Amino acid sequence: MSNDHDRRRQDHGWDVLLAAGIIWVAIDVPWQLEFGAHQRAVGKVVSGLVTLLFAADFWIRWRHLFSRRGGSVTTAVPRESRWWLLVDLPGVIPLALFGGPVGWLALRLMKLPRLNQMMRQWRRRDIHNASLLRLVFFVFWMLLIAHWIACGWASLRVRVPDDDAPMHYLRALYWTITTLATVGYGDITPDTAPQMMYAIMTMLFGVGLFGYGIGNVAHMLANIDQVQAHYHSSLDRLANFLRYRKIPAGLQRRIYDYYAFLWERHLGYDEAIILSELPEPLRIEIAVAMKREFIEKVPLFRGASPMLLREIAVELRAALFTPGDYIFRAGEIGRHMYFISRGTVEVIGEDGQTIISTLSDGDFFGEIALLFQRPRTASIRAVDFCDMYSFDKESFERVLAYFPDFAAFVREEAERRQAALPS
Ligand code: CMP
Repeated sequence: MSNDHDRRRQDHGWDVLLAAGIIWVAIDVPWQLEFGAHQRAVGKVVSGLVTLLFAADFWIRWRHLFSRRGGSVTTAVPRESRWWLLVDLPGVIPLALFGGPVGWLALRLMKLPRLNQMMRQWRRRDIHNASLLRLVFFVFWMLLIAHWIACGWASLRVRVPDDDAPMHYLRALYWTITTLATVGYGDITPDTAPQMMYAIMTMLFGVGLFGYGIGNVAHMLANIDQVQAHYHSSLDRLANFLRYRKIPAGLQRRIYDYYAFLWERHLGYDEAIILSELPEPLRIEIAVAMKREFIEKVPLFRGASPMLLREIAVELRAALFTPGDYIFRAGEIGRHMYFISRGTVEVIGEDGQTIISTLSDGDFFGEIALLFQRPRTASIRAVDFCDMYSFDKESFERVLAYFPDFAAFVREEAERRQAALPS
Protein backbone atom coordinates (compact mmCIF):
# COMPACT_ATOMS: atom_id res chain seq x y z
CA MET A 1 0.00 0.00 0.00
CA SER A 2 2.83 2.36 0.85
CA ASN A 3 4.32 1.57 -2.58
CA ASP A 4 1.10 2.79 -4.04
CA HIS A 5 1.35 5.93 -1.98
CA ASP A 6 4.94 6.54 -3.10
CA ARG A 7 3.96 6.02 -6.69
CA ARG A 8 1.26 8.64 -6.38
CA ARG A 9 3.74 11.11 -4.91
CA GLN A 10 6.13 10.44 -7.76
CA ASP A 11 3.29 10.89 -10.24
CA HIS A 12 2.48 14.18 -8.58
CA GLY A 13 6.11 15.34 -8.82
CA TRP A 14 6.19 14.38 -12.48
CA ASP A 15 2.96 16.26 -13.13
CA VAL A 16 4.38 19.41 -11.52
CA LEU A 17 7.48 19.17 -13.72
CA LEU A 18 5.40 18.59 -16.81
CA ALA A 19 3.10 21.50 -15.93
CA ALA A 20 6.16 23.75 -15.59
CA GLY A 21 7.31 22.61 -19.05
CA ILE A 22 3.93 23.28 -20.63
CA ILE A 23 3.68 26.70 -18.96
CA TRP A 24 7.12 27.58 -20.30
CA VAL A 25 6.00 26.58 -23.80
CA ALA A 26 2.75 28.55 -23.47
CA ILE A 27 4.70 31.68 -22.57
CA ASP A 28 7.71 31.14 -24.78
CA VAL A 29 6.10 30.13 -28.08
CA PRO A 30 4.01 33.31 -28.64
CA TRP A 31 7.07 35.34 -27.62
CA GLN A 32 9.25 33.61 -30.21
CA LEU A 33 6.52 33.93 -32.84
CA GLU A 34 6.53 37.68 -32.32
CA PHE A 35 10.15 38.46 -31.48
CA GLY A 36 11.96 35.68 -33.35
CA ALA A 37 13.85 32.57 -32.25
CA HIS A 38 16.02 32.62 -29.12
CA GLN A 39 19.45 34.11 -29.63
CA ARG A 40 20.83 33.34 -26.19
CA ALA A 41 21.99 29.88 -25.18
CA VAL A 42 19.80 29.68 -22.08
CA GLY A 43 16.58 29.89 -24.15
CA LYS A 44 17.81 27.16 -26.48
CA VAL A 45 18.84 24.91 -23.61
CA VAL A 46 15.48 25.26 -21.82
CA SER A 47 13.64 24.54 -25.09
CA GLY A 48 15.76 21.43 -25.59
CA LEU A 49 15.10 20.25 -22.04
CA VAL A 50 11.38 20.77 -22.50
CA THR A 51 11.47 18.65 -25.66
CA LEU A 52 13.20 15.90 -23.67
CA LEU A 53 10.61 16.25 -20.91
CA PHE A 54 7.74 15.95 -23.40
CA ALA A 55 9.42 12.96 -25.02
CA ALA A 56 9.81 11.22 -21.64
CA ASP A 57 6.20 11.99 -20.79
CA PHE A 58 5.10 10.63 -24.17
CA TRP A 59 7.03 7.44 -23.54
CA ILE A 60 5.59 6.99 -20.04
CA ARG A 61 2.04 7.51 -21.18
CA TRP A 62 2.13 5.60 -24.41
CA ARG A 63 4.72 2.88 -23.90
CA HIS A 64 2.06 0.17 -23.94
CA LEU A 65 1.48 1.13 -27.58
CA PHE A 66 5.00 0.05 -28.38
CA SER A 67 5.23 -2.89 -26.03
CA ARG A 68 2.04 -4.52 -27.20
CA ARG A 69 2.89 -7.48 -29.32
CA GLY A 70 1.25 -7.72 -32.71
CA GLY A 71 -1.27 -4.94 -32.01
CA SER A 72 -1.76 -2.11 -34.46
CA VAL A 73 -2.18 1.48 -33.30
CA THR A 74 -5.82 1.42 -34.23
CA THR A 75 -6.60 -1.50 -31.95
CA ALA A 76 -4.25 -0.53 -29.13
CA VAL A 77 -5.48 3.05 -28.80
CA PRO A 78 -9.08 3.44 -27.72
CA ARG A 79 -11.16 6.00 -29.58
CA GLU A 80 -11.14 8.58 -26.78
CA SER A 81 -7.41 8.34 -26.33
CA ARG A 82 -6.57 9.04 -29.96
CA TRP A 83 -7.27 12.67 -29.32
CA TRP A 84 -4.79 12.59 -26.43
CA LEU A 85 -2.25 11.04 -28.76
CA LEU A 86 -2.66 14.09 -30.97
CA VAL A 87 -2.07 16.29 -27.93
CA ASP A 88 1.10 14.50 -26.85
CA LEU A 89 2.74 13.73 -30.17
CA PRO A 90 3.72 17.19 -31.55
CA GLY A 91 5.64 18.11 -28.38
CA VAL A 92 8.07 15.24 -29.03
CA ILE A 93 9.34 16.60 -32.35
CA PRO A 94 12.66 18.41 -31.78
CA LEU A 95 11.67 21.35 -34.00
CA ALA A 96 14.84 23.30 -33.18
CA LEU A 97 16.95 20.62 -34.89
CA PHE A 98 15.07 20.97 -38.16
CA GLY A 99 15.47 24.74 -38.24
CA GLY A 100 12.16 25.21 -40.08
CA PRO A 101 10.01 28.35 -39.92
CA VAL A 102 9.36 29.59 -36.41
CA GLY A 103 5.59 29.16 -36.99
CA TRP A 104 6.00 25.42 -36.54
CA LEU A 105 6.51 26.10 -32.86
CA ALA A 106 2.77 26.72 -32.52
CA LEU A 107 2.37 22.93 -32.76
CA ARG A 108 3.75 22.68 -29.24
CA LEU A 109 0.78 24.57 -27.87
CA MET A 110 -1.23 21.44 -28.59
CA LYS A 111 0.09 20.13 -25.28
CA LEU A 112 -2.02 22.69 -23.39
CA PRO A 113 -5.05 20.41 -22.85
CA ARG A 114 -2.76 18.25 -20.68
CA LEU A 115 -2.22 21.24 -18.39
CA ASN A 116 -5.95 21.75 -18.11
CA GLN A 117 -6.39 18.05 -17.36
CA MET A 118 -3.77 18.18 -14.60
CA MET A 119 -5.33 21.26 -13.06
CA ARG A 120 -8.69 19.50 -12.92
CA GLN A 121 -7.04 16.52 -11.24
CA TRP A 122 -5.37 18.73 -8.65
CA ARG A 123 -8.67 20.38 -7.86
CA ARG A 124 -10.25 17.00 -7.44
CA ARG A 125 -7.45 15.73 -5.24
CA ASP A 126 -7.16 18.77 -3.01
CA ILE A 127 -10.83 19.00 -2.28
CA HIS A 128 -10.34 21.22 0.79
CA ASN A 129 -8.86 23.94 -1.37
CA ALA A 130 -10.85 23.24 -4.51
CA SER A 131 -12.45 26.69 -4.59
CA LEU A 132 -9.18 28.47 -3.97
CA LEU A 133 -7.45 26.42 -6.66
CA ARG A 134 -10.26 27.23 -9.04
CA LEU A 135 -9.60 30.92 -8.48
CA VAL A 136 -5.83 30.53 -8.80
CA PHE A 137 -6.20 28.61 -12.05
CA PHE A 138 -8.65 31.15 -13.38
CA VAL A 139 -6.17 33.97 -12.70
CA PHE A 140 -3.41 31.90 -14.28
CA TRP A 141 -5.37 31.34 -17.52
CA MET A 142 -6.36 35.00 -17.57
CA LEU A 143 -2.73 36.14 -17.33
CA LEU A 144 -1.66 33.62 -19.95
CA ILE A 145 -4.35 34.78 -22.35
CA ALA A 146 -3.36 38.40 -21.66
CA HIS A 147 0.20 37.45 -22.63
CA TRP A 148 -1.01 35.91 -25.89
CA ILE A 149 -3.15 38.91 -26.71
CA ALA A 150 -0.22 41.23 -25.92
CA CYS A 151 2.04 39.28 -28.29
CA GLY A 152 -0.64 39.57 -30.98
CA TRP A 153 -1.01 43.31 -30.39
CA ALA A 154 2.77 43.78 -30.47
CA SER A 155 2.84 42.13 -33.89
CA LEU A 156 0.22 44.57 -35.21
CA ARG A 157 1.96 47.72 -33.93
CA VAL A 158 4.94 49.52 -35.35
CA ARG A 159 7.70 49.66 -32.76
CA VAL A 160 8.42 53.09 -31.25
CA PRO A 161 11.96 54.00 -32.50
CA ASP A 162 13.70 53.96 -29.10
CA ASP A 163 12.03 50.77 -27.84
CA ASP A 164 13.78 47.42 -27.57
CA ALA A 165 11.79 44.15 -27.68
CA PRO A 166 10.94 43.99 -23.93
CA MET A 167 9.74 47.62 -23.94
CA HIS A 168 7.63 47.00 -27.05
CA TYR A 169 6.13 43.98 -25.30
CA LEU A 170 5.54 45.92 -22.08
CA ARG A 171 3.58 48.59 -23.97
CA ALA A 172 1.49 45.85 -25.61
CA LEU A 173 0.86 44.15 -22.26
CA TYR A 174 -0.14 47.46 -20.70
CA TRP A 175 -2.62 48.04 -23.54
CA THR A 176 -3.97 44.48 -23.17
CA ILE A 177 -4.57 44.69 -19.44
CA THR A 178 -6.26 48.11 -19.60
CA THR A 179 -8.44 46.92 -22.47
CA LEU A 180 -9.32 43.56 -20.91
CA ALA A 181 -10.15 45.18 -17.59
CA THR A 182 -12.33 47.61 -19.61
CA VAL A 183 -10.42 50.52 -18.07
CA GLY A 184 -9.37 51.88 -21.48
CA TYR A 185 -7.31 54.97 -20.64
CA GLY A 186 -7.09 55.69 -24.34
CA ASP A 187 -3.40 56.59 -24.31
CA ILE A 188 -2.67 53.80 -26.77
CA THR A 189 -5.27 53.70 -29.51
CA PRO A 190 -5.68 51.53 -32.61
CA ASP A 191 -4.65 53.27 -35.84
CA THR A 192 -5.30 50.78 -38.61
CA ALA A 193 -8.32 48.61 -39.47
CA PRO A 194 -6.73 45.35 -38.29
CA GLN A 195 -5.76 47.02 -35.01
CA MET A 196 -9.31 48.30 -34.54
CA MET A 197 -10.75 44.86 -35.17
CA TYR A 198 -8.26 43.34 -32.76
CA ALA A 199 -9.17 45.97 -30.15
CA ILE A 200 -12.89 45.27 -30.57
CA MET A 201 -12.39 41.56 -30.11
CA THR A 202 -10.19 42.09 -27.09
CA MET A 203 -12.79 44.37 -25.49
CA LEU A 204 -15.59 41.90 -26.13
CA PHE A 205 -13.47 39.14 -24.69
CA GLY A 206 -12.64 41.35 -21.71
CA VAL A 207 -16.30 42.00 -20.97
CA GLY A 208 -17.06 38.27 -21.12
CA LEU A 209 -14.10 37.42 -18.92
CA PHE A 210 -15.07 40.03 -16.40
CA GLY A 211 -18.63 38.72 -16.18
CA TYR A 212 -17.46 35.16 -15.89
CA GLY A 213 -14.86 36.07 -13.25
CA ILE A 214 -17.26 38.01 -11.07
CA GLY A 215 -19.94 35.33 -11.44
CA ASN A 216 -17.46 32.65 -10.49
CA VAL A 217 -16.23 34.41 -7.40
CA ALA A 218 -19.79 35.13 -6.22
CA HIS A 219 -20.81 31.53 -6.83
CA MET A 220 -17.75 30.31 -5.00
CA LEU A 221 -18.38 32.44 -1.95
CA ALA A 222 -22.04 31.44 -1.80
CA ASN A 223 -21.16 27.79 -2.10
CA ILE A 224 -18.37 27.70 0.37
CA ASP A 225 -20.57 28.07 3.44
CA GLN A 226 -23.55 25.81 2.88
CA VAL A 227 -22.84 22.74 0.84
CA GLN A 228 -19.17 22.61 1.69
CA ALA A 229 -19.84 22.78 5.42
CA HIS A 230 -22.11 19.78 5.10
CA TYR A 231 -19.56 17.95 3.00
CA HIS A 232 -16.74 18.72 5.39
CA SER A 233 -18.65 17.50 8.40
CA SER A 234 -19.22 14.11 6.72
CA LEU A 235 -15.58 14.06 5.67
CA ASP A 236 -14.49 14.78 9.25
CA ARG A 237 -16.50 11.83 10.50
CA LEU A 238 -14.92 9.65 7.86
CA ALA A 239 -11.43 10.90 8.78
CA ASN A 240 -12.01 10.07 12.47
CA PHE A 241 -13.20 6.61 11.58
CA LEU A 242 -10.21 5.92 9.31
CA ARG A 243 -7.77 7.10 11.98
CA TYR A 244 -9.48 5.12 14.75
CA ARG A 245 -9.40 1.93 12.68
CA LYS A 246 -5.77 2.63 11.67
CA ILE A 247 -6.48 2.26 7.97
CA PRO A 248 -3.17 2.43 5.99
CA ALA A 249 -2.30 5.85 4.55
CA GLY A 250 -2.44 4.74 0.90
CA LEU A 251 -5.90 3.28 1.31
CA GLN A 252 -7.09 6.41 3.15
CA ARG A 253 -5.87 8.54 0.23
CA ARG A 254 -7.93 6.44 -2.18
CA ILE A 255 -11.03 6.67 -0.04
CA TYR A 256 -10.66 10.47 0.00
CA ASP A 257 -10.14 10.43 -3.77
CA TYR A 258 -13.35 8.50 -4.14
CA TYR A 259 -15.30 10.99 -2.04
CA ALA A 260 -13.72 13.90 -3.88
CA PHE A 261 -14.85 12.35 -7.13
CA LEU A 262 -18.41 11.89 -5.88
CA TRP A 263 -18.38 15.46 -4.67
CA GLU A 264 -17.19 16.82 -7.97
CA ARG A 265 -19.94 15.00 -9.78
CA HIS A 266 -22.47 16.35 -7.26
CA LEU A 267 -23.25 12.81 -6.27
CA GLY A 268 -23.05 13.45 -2.57
CA TYR A 269 -26.34 11.65 -2.08
CA ASP A 270 -27.30 8.04 -2.34
CA GLU A 271 -29.04 7.35 -5.61
CA ALA A 272 -30.37 3.99 -4.44
CA ILE A 273 -32.17 5.53 -1.44
CA ILE A 274 -33.85 8.19 -3.56
CA LEU A 275 -34.94 5.67 -6.15
CA SER A 276 -36.18 3.13 -3.62
CA GLU A 277 -38.87 5.55 -2.49
CA LEU A 278 -40.46 5.64 -5.95
CA PRO A 279 -43.05 3.21 -7.37
CA GLU A 280 -41.76 0.52 -9.73
CA PRO A 281 -42.93 1.93 -13.12
CA LEU A 282 -41.42 5.32 -12.33
CA ARG A 283 -38.21 3.68 -11.20
CA ILE A 284 -37.94 1.91 -14.55
CA GLU A 285 -38.57 5.15 -16.45
CA ILE A 286 -35.88 6.90 -14.44
CA ALA A 287 -33.43 4.05 -14.97
CA VAL A 288 -33.96 4.30 -18.73
CA ALA A 289 -33.69 8.11 -18.75
CA MET A 290 -30.53 8.13 -16.60
CA LYS A 291 -28.74 5.47 -18.59
CA ARG A 292 -29.90 6.44 -22.08
CA GLU A 293 -26.87 8.62 -22.81
CA PHE A 294 -24.56 5.85 -21.68
CA ILE A 295 -26.42 3.08 -23.52
CA GLU A 296 -26.25 5.02 -26.76
CA LYS A 297 -22.48 5.23 -26.35
CA VAL A 298 -21.95 1.46 -26.19
CA PRO A 299 -21.48 -0.02 -29.68
CA LEU A 300 -22.77 -3.35 -28.37
CA PHE A 301 -26.20 -1.86 -27.65
CA ARG A 302 -26.52 0.02 -30.93
CA GLY A 303 -29.53 -1.17 -32.86
CA ALA A 304 -30.92 -3.04 -29.83
CA SER A 305 -34.69 -3.16 -29.53
CA PRO A 306 -36.41 -0.79 -27.05
CA MET A 307 -37.33 -3.86 -25.01
CA LEU A 308 -33.73 -4.93 -24.67
CA LEU A 309 -32.69 -1.39 -23.79
CA ARG A 310 -35.30 -1.27 -21.07
CA GLU A 311 -34.17 -4.57 -19.67
CA ILE A 312 -30.53 -3.48 -19.74
CA ALA A 313 -31.28 -0.13 -18.10
CA VAL A 314 -33.07 -1.79 -15.24
CA GLU A 315 -30.42 -4.43 -14.64
CA LEU A 316 -27.33 -2.19 -14.86
CA ARG A 317 -25.85 -1.02 -11.56
CA ALA A 318 -23.61 2.04 -11.31
CA ALA A 319 -20.09 1.65 -9.91
CA LEU A 320 -17.26 4.14 -9.46
CA PHE A 321 -13.53 3.40 -9.34
CA THR A 322 -10.56 5.61 -8.52
CA PRO A 323 -7.19 5.59 -10.33
CA GLY A 324 -5.15 2.49 -9.52
CA ASP A 325 -8.11 0.43 -8.26
CA TYR A 326 -8.13 -3.17 -9.36
CA ILE A 327 -11.68 -3.92 -10.45
CA PHE A 328 -10.71 -7.57 -10.25
CA ARG A 329 -7.62 -9.72 -10.61
CA ALA A 330 -6.72 -12.61 -12.89
CA GLY A 331 -7.74 -15.96 -11.43
CA GLU A 332 -10.64 -14.67 -9.34
CA ILE A 333 -14.15 -16.05 -9.71
CA GLY A 334 -16.21 -13.77 -11.97
CA ARG A 335 -19.48 -12.40 -10.65
CA HIS A 336 -19.98 -9.27 -12.77
CA MET A 337 -19.55 -7.95 -16.26
CA TYR A 338 -18.73 -4.24 -16.68
CA PHE A 339 -19.37 -1.46 -19.16
CA ILE A 340 -17.28 1.72 -19.09
CA SER A 341 -19.36 4.87 -19.14
CA ARG A 342 -16.47 7.25 -18.65
CA GLY A 343 -12.78 6.56 -17.96
CA THR A 344 -10.01 4.21 -19.00
CA VAL A 345 -8.91 0.81 -17.71
CA GLU A 346 -5.97 -1.43 -18.49
CA VAL A 347 -6.29 -5.14 -19.14
CA ILE A 348 -3.26 -6.70 -17.44
CA GLY A 349 -2.02 -10.22 -18.16
CA GLU A 350 -1.67 -12.99 -15.59
CA ASP A 351 1.99 -12.06 -15.00
CA GLY A 352 0.75 -8.77 -13.50
CA GLN A 353 2.97 -6.75 -15.88
CA THR A 354 1.93 -7.05 -19.52
CA ILE A 355 -0.70 -4.58 -20.56
CA ILE A 356 -2.77 -6.53 -23.04
CA SER A 357 -5.12 -3.75 -23.96
CA THR A 358 -6.62 -0.46 -22.87
CA LEU A 359 -10.37 -0.04 -22.80
CA SER A 360 -12.34 3.18 -22.47
CA ASP A 361 -15.75 4.81 -22.92
CA GLY A 362 -18.31 2.44 -24.39
CA ASP A 363 -16.15 -0.72 -24.03
CA PHE A 364 -17.00 -3.73 -21.88
CA PHE A 365 -15.03 -6.38 -20.00
CA GLY A 366 -15.44 -9.31 -17.63
CA GLU A 367 -17.64 -11.31 -20.01
CA ILE A 368 -15.27 -14.26 -20.52
CA ALA A 369 -15.47 -15.59 -16.95
CA LEU A 370 -19.27 -15.40 -16.98
CA LEU A 371 -19.73 -16.94 -20.42
CA PHE A 372 -17.28 -19.80 -20.14
CA GLN A 373 -17.52 -20.47 -16.39
CA ARG A 374 -13.79 -19.97 -15.90
CA PRO A 375 -11.64 -17.80 -13.63
CA ARG A 376 -10.83 -14.26 -14.74
CA THR A 377 -8.38 -14.39 -17.63
CA ALA A 378 -6.81 -11.01 -16.83
CA SER A 379 -6.72 -8.27 -14.20
CA ILE A 380 -8.41 -4.96 -14.82
CA ARG A 381 -6.99 -1.74 -13.35
CA ALA A 382 -8.55 1.73 -13.48
CA VAL A 383 -6.21 4.30 -15.04
CA ASP A 384 -8.28 7.34 -14.07
CA PHE A 385 -11.62 7.95 -12.40
CA CYS A 386 -14.01 5.47 -13.96
CA ASP A 387 -17.76 5.61 -14.11
CA MET A 388 -19.02 2.12 -14.86
CA TYR A 389 -22.14 0.04 -15.02
CA SER A 390 -22.22 -3.64 -14.21
CA PHE A 391 -24.44 -6.66 -14.69
CA ASP A 392 -24.35 -9.37 -12.06
CA LYS A 393 -24.18 -12.98 -13.24
CA GLU A 394 -27.92 -13.59 -13.03
CA SER A 395 -28.87 -10.41 -14.92
CA PHE A 396 -26.25 -11.20 -17.53
CA GLU A 397 -27.62 -14.69 -18.08
CA ARG A 398 -31.20 -13.44 -18.18
CA VAL A 399 -30.38 -10.84 -20.82
CA LEU A 400 -28.42 -13.39 -22.88
CA ALA A 401 -31.27 -15.90 -22.71
CA TYR A 402 -33.88 -13.42 -23.90
CA PHE A 403 -31.82 -11.74 -26.59
CA PRO A 404 -29.91 -14.21 -28.80
CA ASP A 405 -28.43 -11.52 -31.11
CA PHE A 406 -26.88 -9.76 -28.17
CA ALA A 407 -25.61 -13.10 -26.83
CA ALA A 408 -24.00 -13.97 -30.18
CA PHE A 409 -22.21 -10.61 -30.31
CA VAL A 410 -20.80 -10.92 -26.78
CA ARG A 411 -19.72 -14.52 -27.41
CA GLU A 412 -17.95 -13.58 -30.63
CA GLU A 413 -16.03 -10.77 -28.93
CA ALA A 414 -15.16 -13.01 -25.97
CA GLU A 415 -13.77 -15.67 -28.30
CA ARG A 416 -11.73 -13.10 -30.20
CA ARG A 417 -10.28 -11.75 -26.95
CA GLN A 418 -9.54 -15.18 -25.58
CA ALA A 419 -7.63 -16.03 -28.72
CA ALA A 420 -5.59 -12.83 -28.36
CA LEU A 421 -4.54 -13.58 -24.78
CA PRO A 422 -0.81 -14.25 -24.32
CA SER A 423 -0.32 -17.98 -23.88
P1 CMP B 1 -12.69 -12.02 -17.87
O1 CMP B 1 -11.83 -13.18 -18.19
O2 CMP B 1 -13.99 -12.28 -17.21
O3 CMP B 1 -11.81 -10.97 -17.01
C1 CMP B 1 -10.73 -10.30 -17.66
C2 CMP B 1 -11.29 -9.57 -18.83
O4 CMP B 1 -10.36 -8.88 -19.63
C3 CMP B 1 -11.90 -10.54 -19.80
O5 CMP B 1 -13.01 -11.17 -19.22
C4 CMP B 1 -12.13 -9.67 -21.00
O6 CMP B 1 -13.31 -8.93 -20.86
C5 CMP B 1 -10.95 -8.73 -20.90
N1 CMP B 1 -9.95 -9.11 -21.92
C6 CMP B 1 -9.25 -10.23 -21.96
N2 CMP B 1 -8.45 -10.23 -23.05
C7 CMP B 1 -8.66 -9.08 -23.70
C8 CMP B 1 -8.14 -8.48 -24.89
N3 CMP B 1 -7.23 -9.11 -25.64
N4 CMP B 1 -8.62 -7.27 -25.26
C9 CMP B 1 -9.55 -6.66 -24.52
N5 CMP B 1 -10.05 -7.17 -23.39
C10 CMP B 1 -9.63 -8.35 -22.98
